[in-house]
Amino acid sequence: MKTSLTGIKPTATPHLGNYLGAIRPALKLAERFHTFYFIADYHALTTVRDPADMQRYVYDVAATWIAAGLDPDKTVLFRQSAVPEVFELAWVLGCLINTGQLERGHAYKDFLAKNEGHKPNAGVTYYPVLMAADILLYDTDVVPIGKDQKQHLELTRDVAERVNHVFGGGDPILVVPEAIIGDAPLVPGLDGEKMSKSRGNAIPLFAPAKKLRKTIMRIETGSEPLEAPKDPESSTVWQLCRQLTPAVADEMADKLRAGGYGWGHAKQDFFEALDHELGPMRETYQELRADEEQLDLFLASGAERARNRARNTMMRVREATGIRRPLSDLRRTVEIKK
Ligand code: TRP
Repeated sequence: MKTSLTGIKPTATPHLGNYLGAIRPALKLAERFHTFYFIADYHALTTVRDPADMQRYVYDVAATWIAAGLDPDKTVLFRQSAVPEVFELAWVLGCLINTGQLERGHAYKDFLAKNEGHKPNAGVTYYPVLMAADILLYDTDVVPIGKDQKQHLELTRDVAERVNHVFGGGDPILVVPEAIIGDAPLVPGLDGEKMSKSRGNAIPLFAPAKKLRKTIMRIETGSEPLEAPKDPESSTVWQLCRQLTPAVADEMADKLRAGGYGWGHAKQDFFEALDHELGPMRETYQELRADEEQLDLFLASGAERARNRARNTMMRVREATGIRRPLSDLRRTVEIKK
C-alpha cells in the first residue's frame, strides 16, 4: 500500500474551514493509503512564541483529528519533534539546495514584501528544507496539500532527485513524492472571504450547539424579502452547505430559487446539517481533550512507528553520503580481523 503523509501546523485551534478543506479529505485518503499524519510543531515555532499556546494547539489538533475519525491504530499520528532524524535529513538536503531557491520561496518573499527593510528569521527561510525532510524521511508516495504548498512540494521533488543523482549512483535513495492538490473550492467564512482565524470570520468546529447556531446566524447574506426568489450560488451560506453536504445544498438551492424561503431559513437548515455531522464528534473531542495523557499515549505510539521508518531512511542516506560506512563493509572488516 502506498504511503500518504501530511503535516499540520499547530498554530490555532482547527475551525470549520480546516475541517472541510483539509481534515475530512485527508481522512478519506486513509481508506486507500498507509497514512502518516503529523503535527508540525517545529514548523510552528517559526511564529508561535508562547509555550502555553504551543502545548494547547498541539493537543487541540490531535484531539480534533481523532474526533473527526482518524483511527490511531491505522494512521500513524505523531509529533514532528518526536523524530529527531528529521533534522539530520534536513541538514543533508540543505547541503544540496541552493540558497537562491529558498529566496524564491513564497513565504520568504511575502515576508520581505510585508516587512520592508527586514529579513525573516532563519527558520522562515529554512522552512521548506525542513518540510522536504518531513516528507522524504518516511518514503512518502503522495502528499495531500493545499495549492499554497505546491512550491514546497516542487522543491521536495527536486532535492530528492538531486540526492538520488548525486549519491545514488543509479540506485534511488529517496522516494520522489507526488502532490495531491485538493480541488475543493475555498471555504468561505462569515463575511464570505476565505475562512481564517486571523480574519476573525471562522466558524468553530466544536462549540456547543447553541453557540454554533448563534455563529451561523451571523453569516452575511443579502437583504431580499422573504418572498423574493434568491440566487444560491452567490451566497456564503449555500456555498458552505454545498461543501458540507451536497444533498442538503441541492434542496436548499431549489427552495431559495422558488422564493418564500428566507436567508434565516437557509441558515437554520445549514445549522441542522452541520450539527448533525459535528454533534457526535464534539462529544468525542471534549472527552479526548480532557485527557492529555491519553493523547500523549496515542502520539507516542505513532512516534515509535514513524521513527522506525525514519531510522531506515537515515541509514540509507548516511551510507550513500559516506557519513557512515555501509554495514556490509563493516561486517567484512570484522570478519577479516577475526
Ligand atoms: N507547511 C505546511 C502548512 O503550512 C505544514 C507542513 C509541514 C507540511 N511539513 C509538512 C505539509 C509536510 C505536508 C507535508 O500547511
